[in-house]
Amino acid sequence: MTNKMWGGRFSTGPAQIMEEINASIGFDQRLYNQDIAGSKAHAEMLAAKGILTKADAKSIIRGLNQVQSEISSGQFNFSRSLEDIHMNIEQRLKEIIGDAAGRLHTGRSRNDQIATDFKLYIRDCLDMLDGQLKDLQKALAKQAEKHADVIMPGFTHLQVAQPITFGHHMMAYVEMFGRDRSRIADARKRMNECPLGAAALAGTSFPIDRYKTSGALGFARPMRNSLDAVSDRDFVLETLSCASISAMHLSRMAEELVIWSSSQFKFITMSDKYSTGSSIMPQKRNPDAAELVRAKVGRILGALTSLVVVMKGLPLAYSKDMQEDKEPAFDAIDSYSLALAAMTGMVKDLKPNKEILRTAAATGFSTATDLADWLVRVLAMPFRDAHHVTGALVALAEKNKVDLAELSLEAMQKIEPRITKEVFKVLTVEASARSRTSLGGTAPRNVTREAKRWLKKLG
Ligand code: ARG
Repeated sequence: MTNKMWGGRFSTGPAQIMEEINASIGFDQRLYNQDIAGSKAHAEMLAAKGILTKADAKSIIRGLNQVQSEISSGQFNFSRSLEDIHMNIEQRLKEIIGDAAGRLHTGRSRNDQIATDFKLYIRDCLDMLDGQLKDLQKALAKQAEKHADVIMPGFTHLQVAQPITFGHHMMAYVEMFGRDRSRIADARKRMNECPLGAAALAGTSFPIDRYKTSGALGFARPMRNSLDAVSDRDFVLETLSCASISAMHLSRMAEELVIWSSSQFKFITMSDKYSTGSSIMPQKRNPDAAELVRAKVGRILGALTSLVVVMKGLPLAYSKDMQEDKEPAFDAIDSYSLALAAMTGMVKDLKPNKEILRTAAATGFSTATDLADWLVRVLAMPFRDAHHVTGALVALAEKNKVDLAELSLEAMQKIEPRITKEVFKVLTVEASARSRTSLGGTAPRNVTREAKRWLKKLG
């Protein structure tokens, strides 16, 4: 049997394999709400412009509502021979309302239809992801507020560098996820132009009103070039690139949770809800959720790579290659959303182990910079000289197997006679963190202020 929708010039139907490679209904059925919204906007516009009778438009809308409830209640039979979501819906519409269904496609093509459907879908995803990122930021800022003065080691090269606070570390991620949200907001704004009415590629001779459909679907304006409108997938690429960057942030954080919860570090305790046991080693508590969050960035970046490659050689305008945009994008967005939810859950429940963190912060001569700064401030030494003197003091402490604060004043004065007992005040990890009051610094009062500022902003 030839295809009911486009088979007029064909004498036989497609080969089995042709149908299999061609059909997208297996995955584009998730666009049914968007497809129906687009069709309703189109039908209303056609009626307003006198291209369709009011009566036909009315029965089309009624029929589309019925189709929508059939699909959402799981009663709809999707058929692969009808290829995609557009034709599955149109065919069912025809069964429900009769011939008027055939008028819906006036001045429209599946090319502008799919571009519109997918844009609507991606736009909803961006809004959902923004909300999830916001929840994660809130969870982080709450932890930061609660643990604004919990001392922990700050690292560079994964070597203890200087004392910082746990709250400060949490707030670093609040900033990162804030940038991720602003990238999403940017992408959303740029993509918010409507392709509908571009028809197959060249526009249409019917007197359509593209502003009307664009407005009805919540777009800022119609896209200005019909070729671009049907062949653009930048909005998907930008979304996948936002998701990749953000998933990379999630992955860095997940990596820290894995390290911090290890028995070597014990910096944090992850809740039972986000840990798993081992089937053989009864003592184990594995951070599986964090590890999976860390891994998700692979598929998300993979989806971006895959779509860039699909698009890169395509001449204008639509090519069927573009149907391959959907599965990777769906998978990437689902994975990213799941990773965000898992991370938010882990952050909400995690507990810093204060004693262990403080002890770790005091190792590795972490207040050496404070000592050098003291020499600069009090003795007016040039920083380079202060660095040298401090280096000698660290070497001495290391030789004596003590911490800097445990060196005697006499021992210090052998290296620099002008040092006074005042120096000991800057050598504790608390004093060190407290002194970092520069904008963006780790001082607990900075952290409290930043956490409160963000929490207010996040609402
Ligand atoms: N299923 C197609 C896609 O996802 C819809 C557009 C089909 N257009 C066409 N001319 N065959 O891209």
